[in-house]
Order: sequence, then structure tokens, then C-alpha cells
Amino acid sequence: MRTQVGIIGAGPAGLLLSHLLHLRGIDSVVLESRSRDQIESTIRAGVLEQGTMDLLTEAGVGARMKAEGALHHGFELAFEGKRHRIDLTGLTGHSITVYAQHEVIKDLVAARVADDGKLRFGVSETSIHGIDTDTPSIRYRHEGEAYELQCDFVIGCDGSQGVSRASIPQALRKDFERVYPFGWFGILCEGPPSSDELIYARHERGFALISTRSPNVQRMYFQCDPKDSVENWSDDRIWAELHARVDSHDGQTIVDGKIFQKNIVGMRSFVSNTMQHGRLFLAGDAAHIVPPTGAKGMNLAVADVRVLTEALNAFYVENRTDLLDSYSTTALKRIWRAEHFSYWMTSMMHRIEGASPFEQQLQVAELEYVTTSRAAATVMAENYVGIAGAHA
Ligand code: PHB
Repeated sequence: MRTQVGIIGAGPAGLLLSHLLHLRGIDSVVLESRSRDQIESTIRAGVLEQGTMDLLTEAGVGARMKAEGALHHGFELAFEGKRHRIDLTGLTGHSITVYAQHEVIKDLVAARVADDGKLRFGVSETSIHGIDTDTPSIRYRHEGEAYELQCDFVIGCDGSQGVSRASIPQALRKDFERVYPFGWFGILCEGPPSSDELIYARHERGFALISTRSPNVQRMYFQCDPKDSVENWSDDRIWAELHARVDSHDGQTIVDGKIFQKNIVGMRSFVSNTMQHGRLFLAGDAAHIVPPTGAKGMNLAVADVRVLTEALNAFYVENRTDLLDSYSTTALKRIWRAEHFSYWMTSMMHRIEGASPFEQQLQVAELEYVTTSRAAATVMAENYVGIAGAHA
């Protein structure tokens, strides 16, 4: 089989790229190791920057997001018994939408299927060949048969554990990494929202986040030991922990409900520089990871794809390679801004084991500043909505 662009991975990056290329008349094939059911039900974060919303809308895949997602104009920072609002729209003119990543995935899969896009689920033994040549290929197995997909370009959107990044020789790549000594315990529960806006809470017992999914389903998280197991946490213990961390602020209480999903995620910051070699380009988690505190993961994947679409389009329409050559450099500007922001917000909000009383007071001092100085609040807001930095 032959295509112009071979895409490995049907997450937000791979599916959106395939859809945007289709709109420009460029052919692609998406290969995914999991099933359609799995990718459409994997629970991930759910904050979309306005730039992400605009891109999905322009690409014709934003209708359900607009109808079912919740538009938020601010969020709250809770610490030392008080809540403080960051007025995103007032400070930046931008807002965010809370809409789960797997819903974006469903919308993108539906669009690709409607356009007769080539999606292969359940592929295995995927390997990449000839990236130093003009005729790279992807070999894989599907339903018991071995295949080779010939393409002009291979795009690795297969996440942090995929084969793509490992196909760039280690000697040509530098990896930057920080592993945090804590994780997030996430729950989905039935019930009404506890708040009109997201609440990020710093408490001496640890961080907590109150988010939402719909008027009847809520998403909440609390900082935990990344090696802990969900079996150790009964519903009662979870609610006691969330109440202890969030309720004390201004006497508001969160609303309990029936918990129907529990998971623990580790927290890591990671950047691969470079994100390209020969005819192989990486996008999304294959190239970089952020801790979820800044809600940047999917937004960065979408931003990579936006740059890559323009670069591939310039290649096919004008025979230009300059945008492809500068892809990594262009994408990494936004990525490093988001890496810093996610690290900053994580460091400011979490309980750090072994931190001295002095260091704990510095966290509070920083939060005080962010919530009382318009300039500092604007730094927070610009980063949160995704317009900070020269790339804006
Ligand atoms: C979520 O709703 O899952 C969510 C929201 C904000 C974050 C992370 C996750 O920073």
C-alpha cells in the first residue's frame, strides 16, 4: 500500500493531522495499536485552549464541543483557607472550554470515517524504515497479515512509549526529563458541579483539583503517591480526602456523588530535542510530556499538528522544505513555554515531601502574588489560555 503521509497513532495528534491533511487534499493512513473502542474511552484531561477550539471549529469538527463543552472564563486558586479567581477573559480576552479528550477523539474518528479516511486499528509489530531516504515505509501486522506502507513522510504520534521516537538515533537526540515524586488520583462521579469554575487547591495534605465533565458528571483529582493503588481507596476515604483539601476554603463544600471511575497517573515533564530526523517527524506525547497541572497536553499536540500541517502543505503545494526543516525549532518554542508553565504551577501547588517550612512559605508567597498583582495574574492567565510567548 502507498500513501503520502503515514501516521502512527490515533490520539488527538494523529487523527487531527490526518483530518487537516485531508482538507488540503493530502492523503494519509493512520495506524493504531489499540481498538477504536479503547481510544474512544480512555480517560484523559479536558481543557481546550481557545486556539485549540478555533482550530477544531475551522476544521469542521467543533460542533459537539461547542454544544456540549463548557466555556469557562476563569478558574479559582484556593490556598490558606481562601479562594481567589483568575479572570482569564478579563486579563487576556481569551477563555477555555472544558471538554474531555476522548470526546475530541470520538469527533475526529467520526469525521475520518465519514470522509472514508484510512484508519487501521489493532495493528501490531509496527516498525519504521528508510527515514534517511525519500521513500520511508512503515511495516506492521493487521488481522494476521504482514503489511508495508510506503510513504513520503512518517509522522510519529504514538505517545511516549511508541516506536517513533526510538527510531531517531539516540546520538542525534537530547532528552530532557523531570519525574515528580507524586501522582494524581482521578475520579469520575455522578452529581452536579461543585463550582461554576475549576478549583486548583493547595492544602497541607496535598493538592486537589475540582473539574467537571457535564452537568451530571464531575472530574476531581487529588495528589497521591504515584505507587499507590486504587484498591487502597474506598469511596468514603476518597471523599474524606477531597473534603479535607477543598472544603476549608471560604466554607464552601464540594458535592459527593457515586464514583464510577478511579485512576492514578504519574507526573513527568519530558522533551525530546530534536522532534525530527530525515522523513520522520514526532508530534504530541511522542515528543513531549507535561504534568497535567497546566492542562497543556492535548493543546500542545494540536499546536504541533498545526505547524506540521502547514509544513507538509508547503511541501506538496510549493515544493518547499523550509517549513519542514524548521518544524522542531518552531514547535519547541511553544513546548518549552508550556513545560515551564506546567512545572511552575505543579511546584507551586503540590505538597513537596521534605520541603522546609521556609520553602512552604515561598509557595504561599508566590500564590499570594499571583492572586493579588494584576501583572502576576496576567502571567498565569496568558499561560493558561495559551497565548504566552513569542509564538502567540
Ligand atoms: C480535567 O478536567 O481532567 C483537568 C482539568 C484541568 C487540569 C487537568 C485536568 O489542569
